[in-house]
Amino acid sequence: MLRGEGTYKELCAACHGRDGKGAPMGGATDGSTLAPNLVGVPRILGNADYITKVLLYGMTGELDGKNFPGGGVMVPMGTNTDDWIADIASYVRNSFGNSAPFVTTERVTAVRKANPRTSMWSFAELVSTTPMPLLNQVEWKATASHNPDAAASGINGEGTTRWESAVAQEPGMWFQIELPQPVNVAEILVDTLAGGRGGFGFGRGRGTLPAGPLSAYRVQVSMDGTTWSEPVAEGQGQNPTTTITLKPVQARFVRITQTGTPQPASAWAIQRVRIFAIGGVKP
Ligand code: HEC
Repeated sequence: MLRGEGTYKELCAACHGRDGKGAPMGGATDGSTLAPNLVGVPRILGNADYITKVLLYGMTGELDGKNFPGGGVMVPMGTNTDDWIADIASYVRNSFGNSAPFVTTERVTAVRKANPRTSMWSFAELVSTTPMPLLNQVEWKATASHNPDAAASGINGEGTTRWESAVAQEPGMWFQIELPQPVNVAEILVDTLAGGRGGFGFGRGRGTLPAGPLSAYRVQVSMDGTTWSEPVAEGQGQNPTTTITLKPVQARFVRITQTGTPQPASAWAIQRVRIFAIGGVKP
């Protein structure tokens, strides 16, 4: 964080502003900035490939339908070491009110290796090759094996409400999301505690049990909600965000089944679910 902070102040702040919201353009009266806001942007805080790819190779042209001055050039930073990229990426993801897992040096090395290129990205290119967050949460439907009436509170996208299983976690308990149309799912982030300061604290939830992250999981997908795939991912829950990475798979339904028995017993709580898909997702 400290190394990243030094780099940010020296290099990035001139365009992105000290507060990360974009440095005002000289003489502009309409709030125009030299570079985009970096605060609370889902694609920057989600799958770490996005920010890593932008930093390594830069980007130019339209961003989200917006044009920044001078052709909107984000200079490539790839001549720096992978440690340097990891530091500044981690700093951006955890400053200005942002909160997201650190980007590791290993991740930067892998992204560099997987993307041998010499030219800057266009935003369209990034969108079509990188897991991007689905931003249509309002169209999702959620259900669960336990306390299903509250399931929608786990996915309202704001991280201000939550679903709780209300009884102790046991293998077989599940939480399921239905998307409005099939997408190529590449990553699922399950947040037990979302929204940073605005979120709930841990501890006793509405029931008599403490509520926390899922203990362990298995993920299955479906196109019709009836026929389910073999498990596409299995692993241990993480606190406060469980990151589930998949080999991209077409799905309209995603079911996360709890497979562990936490000691001491705790209920399962979800404040937010973020789904990242690759190819053909509108940013
Ligand atoms: C010379 C100005 C300039 C500097 C210096 C600069 N950027 Fe940028 N940055 C931009 C512009 C302009 C864009 C938008 C590019 C586009 O429109 O295609 C951008 C885009 C980005 C994005 C993607 C934003 C999004 O919404 O997808 C990230 C992340 C980013 N910059 C981080 C950084 C970091 C970290 C540094 C310092 C290491 C940095 N930038 C230095 C101008 C700059």
